Amino acid sequence: MNSENPGQTSAALNDTNGQDTQATDSPERILLVDDNPTNLQVLLQTLSGRGYKLLVAKNGESALNIAHKGKPALVLLDIMMPGIDGYEVCRRLKEDPETSDITVIFLSALDDTRDKVKGLETGAVDFISKPFQAEEVIARVETQLKIHRLEQALSSRNRQLEAENQRILESMSEGIFGFDAEGTIIFANPAACHMTGLSETEAVGAPLTDMLKPQGTANNAVASLMDKMLTTGESGAEDDVLIANRSGDAFDCELACNPIFSGEALNGGVMVFRDITEKKRQQAALDKALEELKVQQEKVTHVSRLSTMGEMAAGFAHEVNQPLTAISNYAQVSQRLMKREPLDTESLIEAMEKISSQARRAGGIISRIRSFVKKPDHCLEKVDCNRLVQDVVRLAEVDARNNGIEIHSELAETLPAVRVDPVQIQQVALNLLRNGMEAMRDAPGKTEGIRISTVTVNDEFVEIAVKDRGHGLAEGAEEKLFTPFYTTKSDGMGIGLSVCMSIIQTHGGKLWADRNPEGGTTFSFTLPIA
Ligand SMILES: Nc1ncnc2c1ncn2[C@@H]1O[C@H](COP(=O)(O)OP(=O)(O)OP(=O)(O)O)[C@@H](O)[C@H]1O
Ligand SMILES: [Mg+2]
Repeated sequence: MNSENPGQTSAALNDTNGQDTQATDSPERILLVDDNPTNLQVLLQTLSGRGYKLLVAKNGESALNIAHKGKPALVLLDIMMPGIDGYEVCRRLKEDPETSDITVIFLSALDDTRDKVKGLETGAVDFISKPFQAEEVIARVETQLKIHRLEQALSSRNRQLEAENQRILESMSEGIFGFDAEGTIIFANPAACHMTGLSETEAVGAPLTDMLKPQGTANNAVASLMDKMLTTGESGAEDDVLIANRSGDAFDCELACNPIFSGEALNGGVMVFRDITEKKRQQAALDKALEELKVQQEKVTHVSRLSTMGEMAAGFAHEVNQPLTAISNYAQVSQRLMKREPLDTESLIEAMEKISSQARRAGGIISRIRSFVKKPDHCLEKVDCNRLVQDVVRLAEVDARNNGIEIHSELAETLPAVRVDPVQIQQVALNLLRNGMEAMRDAPGKTEGIRISTVTVNDEFVEIAVKDRGHGLAEGAEEKLFTPFYTTKSDGMGIGLSVCMSIIQTHGGKLWADRNPEGGTTFSFTLPIA
């Protein structure tokens, strides 16, 4: 029976055969139930031609039967019927999950409020009074169908969201236990079950603290995270907790505990945990690699220092030779003086003093070299950079004299101390001075000499700068200057500046180069004040 056929006859008022009225998407179905054919006829006429598929039933039993097979969206249900009355039909429809979402409107001649309340209690949503007013029937039906449609859309969206949530929870690699305000687990995702070795049935309903068991020093990490969250409503986290699974094997975990609110009320929360065993293993491997890298870097730094000394050896030999020659000369003078009669004690003492001072000079040179080439001892000291620069200048002076270049020191009057490995910082300053002098060897600015200065910057750093008047940096050199093996010298190794960079960086400072407007280059580095 179809409302599209406006010419309904009483013959058409037989109960609809539910079999051929399986639910389809459209049109919407309305089941009309009344034992009175006249009433049915009126309802059919009222609702036909409005795009609905109309089904009819003349008693309670067939109404239930058709509702089951035809799945109408709405039932207009007479209350007073022989056999099963409307209340009972409505109750049974609502009881059965297959028909519970069918909207029921009672048709009633009863005006008693108690009857209406009883109807609403059985699950109906509205009443239409007999005798029917066409407009009222249409208006109530349309309103309820609209609500029904919205409810359907809403519940289908809810189902979709729930399915999506479920998919997300299932696909997450983090373990998730949801718990109520008493700390009882209310859901567990597959990862949580996998990590703890529990089944979902074992976990759900059990206290969270019995299922997620921290070990060792973190013994009550889960309980305290959960209690704190349940008292304050605030999230909390622990980044390294040892958790034992069911078979007693322990794994390292990151834990995060977040609240779940329903409106204002705190309903419980979720404990999210991630196995960080692999992350920790990788971190340990990385730390080890970094440690090895540090050792290698120190070796390179040391080798580079030895190589610098090797290059400067001839100069130093010459430097030491001078006091040795002087000592030898004064010794001969002393011998002669001792043979003279009477003994000229005064001259002898003077010669001896010269011998001793020249020996100290030679010893000074050798001890500077020895301390410069010594193995790294990771020893950080509070150092006055002015003194450090003076020592370096003494080392570099040998080269400077050989090249005919003067070293000018412009040292700040007072400098705060820095905490550094003095030998490494000397190495940086010496490298920069030697690079500068190499750049000046054939440059016209050579007569200006090379400058080394110290200054305090922003009460935070000591800055040491080496300014030369050499040939300047090669074109585009800035990008590669501090990378290993970049050199423009035929006998250069190209590691000096890269070693300087790693030394300064490990001391928490910066190293950079500027082209001087008047020619030449300034290399500067900073060291944080102790
Ligand atoms: N003061 C400077 N003026 C101009 N160019 C410089 C200066 N200092 C460094 N450079 C450029 O940077 C390059 C790299 O310097 P670095 O000290 O690292 O190596 P190197 O001096 O070539 O060799 P070595 O490893 O023996 O020191 C130099 O070859 C040179 O081209
Ligand atoms: Mg160099």
